[in-house]
Amino acid sequence: MNKIIFDTDIGIDDAFALLLAYKTQNILGITTVFGNTNINQVTNNAVLFSKKFDIDVPIYKGCSNSLVYNNSFDDSINIHGNNGLGDIFNDYVNYVAYDALEFIIDSINDNPHEIILVALGPLTNIATVIKKCPELVSKIKFLIIMGGAFGTDGCFGNITCNSEFNVWSDPHAAQLIFLSKLPIVVVPLDVTHKIVITEDDLLSLNNNFLIDLSRCYMSFYRNKKFFDGMVLHDPIVISYLIEDKWFDVKDVYVEVLTDSLYRGSTLMYDKKYDFHNILHHNDSLLRKVCLNLDVVNVKSNLLSILKI
Ligand code: BDR
Ligand code: CA
Repeated sequence: MNKIIFDTDIGIDDAFALLLAYKTQNILGITTVFGNTNINQVTNNAVLFSKKFDIDVPIYKGCSNSLVYNNSFDDSINIHGNNGLGDIFNDYVNYVAYDALEFIIDSINDNPHEIILVALGPLTNIATVIKKCPELVSKIKFLIIMGGAFGTDGCFGNITCNSEFNVWSDPHAAQLIFLSKLPIVVVPLDVTHKIVITEDDLLSLNNNFLIDLSRCYMSFYRNKKFFDGMVLHDPIVISYLIEDKWFDVKDVYVEVLTDSLYRGSTLMYDKKYDFHNILHHNDSLLRKVCLNLDVVNVKSNLLSILKI
């Protein structure tokens, strides 16, 4: 089993990803980050969701704001409900969550070359760790992120036409990560959009809690995207960890833009088009970007593991 650290701003699709990961990976810890809502609410939601599904993994509290921008949470409220997790929990728990950054640093030092960082929210925790301890870059097995949008297969951003929510939320953190030598696998919207979970798929899981949890997410897709069903972005990252052979991956350079209209835009560049070696790029900066997947296998595996 892969040893992973599960970094999340636990929205509805992150919650599904957590269930999938708990059943298939060795999760050393859950680290929270602001994103779908504020950090205290995110951490509270992570604690309550884990309790509900007997997920016995320590939870650590991470960054409350992006490196440069101030965040408003309005963009995701419609999608993940007013409290960031489908308005399914009303209570606050008394949980002492220790520092996520320290946990990430200590875990990597204790398990050199063994840990996969799984980032399902803004990349602020990971970027801050790398800023603080750049020597850790060579000790991380790899980082896998749900993030980015490259415009392939007619699939563009979900915040602006070029930018995806996680990258948009902290573009400077994403930029810092893509400038580092960290090995990175990217699971962008281009590929997550290909898996649609329908109402019937959801019912087949036989779990009323998951049905309630998904209600506002389903209505977002019905009312704003005009189709029945939902796209669960974050679990697709775990599908890659379960079986990377289901994914078509391209080795490309990735760049992140940070400002104004282009905030959070991700661009990829295929080395073979650098005809005149103008970019002087280094092969260690090539990233694995998933651009297609085996829809039938990924979806049936996801549903069968989530079935209780
Ligand atoms: C990403 O944004 C969040 O709302 C989802 O949880 C996912 O991680 C998709 O753009
Ligand atoms: Ca997420």
